This record gives sequence, C-alpha cells and structure tokens, in this order.
Amino acid sequence: MQTKRLSESEGDIKLAGEILRNGGLVAFPTETVYGLGANALDAEAVGAVYKAKGRPSDNPMIVHIADIGDLGSLVRGGRDGIGRTAAQVMEAFWPGPLTLIFPKSSAVPDATTGGLETVAIRMPSNDTAHRLISEAGIPIAAPSANISGKPSPTTSNDVLEDMDGRIDAVIMGENCEVGIESTVLDLSSDRPVILRPGVITSELISEIIGQEVFYDDTLLGTPGQMIDPQDQDALSSFKPKSPGVKYTHYAPKAKVRLIEVRESDFTEKVSQLEQELREQGLKSAILNYNDNAKQAAKNLFADLRELDRQKYDVIFIKTLDKSGLGFSVMNRMLKSAGYDIIR
Ligand code: TXA
Ligand code: MG
Repeated sequence: MQTKRLSESEGDIKLAGEILRNGGLVAFPTETVYGLGANALDAEAVGAVYKAKGRPSDNPMIVHIADIGDLGSLVRGGRDGIGRTAAQVMEAFWPGPLTLIFPKSSAVPDATTGGLETVAIRMPSNDTAHRLISEAGIPIAAPSANISGKPSPTTSNDVLEDMDGRIDAVIMGENCEVGIESTVLDLSSDRPVILRPGVITSELISEIIGQEVFYDDTLLGTPGQMIDPQDQDALSSFKPKSPGVKYTHYAPKAKVRLIEVRESDFTEKVSQLEQELREQGLKSAILNYNDNAKQAAKNLFADLRELDRQKYDVIFIKTLDKSGLGFSVMNRMLKSAGYDIIR
C-alpha cells in the first residue's frame, strides 16, 4: 500500500475525511501525540488499525470527537447518562488532553473497546485534529500512530518511520506540543481514578471537582507489575483497569536505563557507567532534562527515536522529580526502561 502524504490544506483534509468514511486509516496530529485514525463505528476499519500497529486486540481505543453533541450517541443513556462530575471536567478541560471513560452505547462496536462495556472518549484541541474529525463527520478511533511497543510518534516523520506502506495516509502536521498521551480518567466508580497520567494532573482535576483524585495502583511502577507479553498465564490473571498498561511500552531498540542519584553525583555515576560500556564496545547516550518536566514530556519520545536512528546501544535518562507532570513523564520513562533504575 502506498501511504499518501497529505498537508493541512482544506482539500487534503477533505480527502482524509473521505478516506476515513470509506473505512481507511489516516494518521493525524493531535496536541499530545500523532493518532492513527479509523471510523470508530466500523469494526472492520478498527480491525485494520490493530493490524497496522501489531496491537493486541484486547487493548481498547480512544474515540475522538470534535463536538460535544457527538457524545450522546456513544454513551449508554445518551447525554443524560453523563454524570455531574464528568460534565464538570469536560467543561474545564475539553477540548484538550483528557480522556474520559463512559459506559458505552450499543453503537460502539466491541472491536473499538476491546470487548469492554465502557468506551474512552476524548475531544482533542489541536486544530488539524478538530478539522479532520468534523470533516469526516464520524467519531474517530485513534491509538497512538506507532508500531505497538515503540515510543509514540510526536512528529510526522516518526509516524512514517513506523507506518509508511501500512496505512492510507498521514497528515504531515506540526510536531506535537505536549508530547505524551492524554490523561485517562475513570469516573465510573465511587472515587475518581487516573488510569494513565498525563499533562492534566490529579491536582488540576481535584481543583475542578473538589474531591481527591487517585492513581490506579498499577501506575506505581514496581517491577512486579510488568508482565511479559509472551507469558499467557500471567497475562490472563493480570487485569488492570486500563488494559494498555500490561504490555511493554515506549521501548526503543536501545536499552534504556534510568539514573536516580543526587544531582552532585550524577556526572560521576554516568561517566563510570559509560566507561564500562565503552570497554565492551557499546555506544551510550545521556538524556538529562534538568528536572524540566514540560520539556521532558515534549521531547522524550522524539529523543528516544532519534537516538535509535543514531544507533546507540544504551540510553541513560536522568529521572525527574515525581510531582505533577513529572509523575506522568516518569511513568513513560519507567516503562521505556522496563522499570530498570540505577540508584
Ligand atoms: O493522547 C492520546 O490519548 C492519544 C492521541 C492519539 O489521542 N491516543 C492514545 O491512544 O494514546 P492509545 O490507544 O495509544 O492509548 C489508549 C489508552 C490505553 O492505555 C487503553 O488501555 C486506555 O486508553 N483505554 C481505552 N479505552 C479504555 C476503557 N474503556 N477503559 C479503560 N482504559 C481504556
Ligand atoms: Mg499508545
């Protein structure tokens, strides 16, 4: 399949909308990461997304909408099925990098939700994403536009690196501003729970809804929670609420190791580790975001991909302070390192 490179022009967005309506796959920019879009109401189109990504089919997709009016048909009970807390967070953070979990209506195929009775919905703020979804006139299922297990793409070239020849088209837009995926918030139980942390932090959500927001306990990042995707027994007995968390994620070809030492010890620790690798003929790189979580979020995935292109064997990353956005970025760093931390 020849993958079309499309621009953000009106004509190209029209064409992309038509491809989506006809069951095709189009990658497009959002404020978080590039998404790989398909008609969320068409089980066959959604199946093609799983295939293009090499993604396990029990990992549900986020359905993207352009207008609040599109929500009713996707949620069980329609607009009235949306609780007060959900309405408050939607009012505060939509359009934007926040995904909410709702009981699904019968219009949403099982293929889209990986067989779950709930559906994840988000309204992106990126202008191109908004125009594309409006133009398509259908809700768009869109996981990150990477081969499953690799870092999410935050530039159009990173999308092509994984998807060229596998999908119908890519909208060649800007680099993503946020750089990590949306916060996934579950309001379906008695306490609000973040299933995937993002730039909309628990603190920000708490302020709006006036209650404490919790993290799903699978986010704490201890090695016992990583499960080998080949280990079928372990996989079937491990049931985190957000099924995406059980698979290896964000891993470049290079081995990633996190370094959590005092600032004053960092340089010495790294030169010692690099020396050991040099003796084995291995090439290593260092990512140090100087505790700037915003910069780290924006650049982490792109940096991992760039260092792979430069054929590094090992990537050392200096850990971040785990408060606010730092917690969200550390969640991605921990996964990309397979929870390997040098202390
Ligand atoms: O920022 C984003 O959310 C990007 C852009 C493209 O919008 N999309 C994205 O999609 O990150 P994906 O498929 O890579 O990640 C979706 C996450 C997974 O962890 C999945 O398990 C979770 O959302 N999820 C989806 N539906 C769910 C549901 N019904 N219940 C719980 N978790 C769900
Ligand atoms: Mg993803």
